[in-house]
Amino acid sequence: MAGVQFLDVKKSFGTVPVIKGVNIGIDDGEFVILVGPSGCGKSTLLRMLAGLENISAGSIRIGDRVVNAVPPKDRDIAMVFQNYALYPHMTVSDNMGFSLKLKGTPKEEKDRRVKAAAEILGLSHLLDRYPRQLSGGQRQRVAMGRAIVRDPQVFLFDEPLSNLDAKLRVAMRAEIKELHQRLQTTTVYVTHDQIEAMTMADKIVVMHDGIVEQIGAPLDLYDRPANLFVAGFIGSPAMNMLPGRLDPGDRTVFVSEDGTKLPVADHGPAAAGRDLVYGLRPEFIRLDPAGLPVEVIVTEPTGYETHMMVKLGGVEANCVFRERVQARPGEKITVGIDADRVHLFDKETGKRLSA
Ligand SMILES: Nc1ncnc2c1ncn2[C@@H]1O[C@H](COP(=O)(O)OP(=O)(O)OP(=O)(O)O)[C@@H](O)[C@H]1O
Ligand SMILES: [Mg+2]
Repeated sequence: MAGVQFLDVKKSFGTVPVIKGVNIGIDDGEFVILVGPSGCGKSTLLRMLAGLENISAGSIRIGDRVVNAVPPKDRDIAMVFQNYALYPHMTVSDNMGFSLKLKGTPKEEKDRRVKAAAEILGLSHLLDRYPRQLSGGQRQRVAMGRAIVRDPQVFLFDEPLSNLDAKLRVAMRAEIKELHQRLQTTTVYVTHDQIEAMTMADKIVVMHDGIVEQIGAPLDLYDRPANLFVAGFIGSPAMNMLPGRLDPGDRTVFVSEDGTKLPVADHGPAAAGRDLVYGLRPEFIRLDPAGLPVEVIVTEPTGYETHMMVKLGGVEANCVFRERVQARPGEKITVGIDADRVHLFDKETGKRLSA
């Protein structure tokens, strides 16, 4: 096994820069997820690590070796793609053992490794089937099995679950996480789904437009987003963001653009007198009979909790209540806000101000 390092890595296609100087350190055995909107450069970064794209500048290390000039087959990594790419004319067993066969691994050892991987993945009873005789989830497991038999230093996954339906995604998410706990192989996993990132990763790398916005443990990013982009990307329903300024006479009062006064912890003199964004996660708005009256726009009972959209401080704000709330559009409810859970961002730079 080995760690991975990206050192000031850049990539241009022709004259268009798509990776603009990326630094990421991945420890041996770590499960790291690259997440970000479509087109931000996640697959490109992964393909550079795999050796499928060359590197325009900077370097990539696997273990203590710089791999910039090392061909893909000598990098000791295994990649699982979104579209499985199984050979349709080969059985599950032959699909899984194919890379070992190419390498000239003796048949007994190949069979032993295929059998072991099939056992881990619950595929033992399907080894003689062809891909067309499998469900989507089973095919995905075969694709993973093919990677496991190679016993690589690093696993790479590029959106491996996006072809599956919602229920199967959740099941496979748990399986991949369990697999990692068992094998402890360094893993780099790409997704644009922030829930997948939050639930599976040891460490998340949030990317945007070819740069890294923030790297951290899932709950660190959730509780202490470095900037407006990360704050808006991590969390579902998303963080509410209200533009405004602090009350000139009181740093614990935020005044939104429509004049609504909202509570906030004292962020010190630096926050005063400039344009800010008030960041409030939906779960930190509570029902409070003595609170601020707000108009209900939509109510969505999920059974477990009630999601509601209300008019708050000039924006449409998402709330999540643990209680069941009966309120029709146009009616008013009264809410309280946990002042110490509010984030303030500098509107111009997007950076979060520390309290
Ligand atoms: N071979 C190529 N030639 C030119 N431009 C490319 C090439 N491959 C990717 N790009 C561009 O590089 C940028 C990053 O692409 P990439 O595939 O890495 O994005 P991504 O983050 O994986 O997005 P998605 O979530 O949609 O898969 C995009 O703007 C894309 O159009
Ligand atoms: Mg991609």
